[in-house]
Amino acid sequence: MAAGRATAIAPANIAFVKYWGVQDAALTLPYNESISMNLDRCLTTTTVQFDGRLDADEVVLKLHGQAEQPARGRPLERVIAQLDRVRALAATQIRARVHSTNNFPSDAGIASSAAAFAALTTAAVAALGLTLSEQELSVLTRRSGSGSACRSIPTGFVHWRNDHTDGGSYAVSVAPPEHWALADVVAVVDPGVKSVTSADNHRLAATSPYFAVRLQEVSGRIQQALTAIRDHDLGQLGAVCEADAVSMHVVAMTAQPPTFYWNAGTLAVIHALRQWRNEGLFGYFTIDAGPNVHVICAQADAAELEHRLQALPEVQFTIANGPGPGVRIVVDEPHA
Ligand code: PMV
Repeated sequence: MAAGRATAIAPANIAFVKYWGVQDAALTLPYNESISMNLDRCLTTTTVQFDGRLDADEVVLKLHGQAEQPARGRPLERVIAQLDRVRALAATQIRARVHSTNNFPSDAGIASSAAAFAALTTAAVAALGLTLSEQELSVLTRRSGSGSACRSIPTGFVHWRNDHTDGGSYAVSVAPPEHWALADVVAVVDPGVKSVTSADNHRLAATSPYFAVRLQEVSGRIQQALTAIRDHDLGQLGAVCEADAVSMHVVAMTAQPPTFYWNAGTLAVIHALRQWRNEGLFGYFTIDAGPNVHVICAQADAAELEHRLQALPEVQFTIANGPGPGVRIVVDEPHA
């Protein structure tokens, strides 16, 4: 078994149809399928170096705009647990040095854990010389606990399939990034860090009386989203995005205990988007586990939407993304 080093770059992704609710927390098995787009400008770069001289894994994080710092507590435990899953496949106990850099603000409401666990898993697999198919890599990445990370493995527009088994819950590409000039303009209305992690709320989702309703609706939305992507139908994709985000947040707001992710800024952006659509400028909202709003639109309209969003008093800054590739191994390693 070769003990080596590898670097991977992985994108964050935005879900058009959300993963919300975990059926088996140990395996990170979701109740429902989901659909997403990889983001071309929100990336995590991770180097994993296995070293027989180490007694423990060492993990250093370099978040955007912050000094390097060693990971501690729960984030460190999650990285070690994922390295353990990769080590188990290679039948080794060897410890690793991990260095991870984010190029986007971690306070932007963009799921940084998806990019982080996709990059970590891919780099660790390569550093141990394991050969996995894309499907096997997506399954292994899903088990990290950040389920949506499995969607950052394949390229472009992605479908996380789920047959409720460990081996049958993985993501596949349904179209490459160049298939559709779509944009995700993130309108940041609150740069604060959220107090309830999505991991906790995935476990609580099934306590909502509306969760069963959501599950009944989701398979229809999966088909509509796939058709909208195939046909480049922004109106249909936007309707699906908005309906699914509202459904996810209804479940969160009616779980026991409930979580209210939205704030006044979230609603201000929603109302502005609806007004602008009446004027012929087409942007559609989706919202993850936080108050910030992802505006899905044609790339041709992204600059005008960014301009208008930045003019809203509730919006602190915006980040525009197009569709991007999935995870890739970097040959020329950036962290010497
Ligand atoms: O993969 P997690 O545990 O970070 O959960 C992701 C949850 C949402 O971002 C709200 C939805 C999704 O499908 O990305």
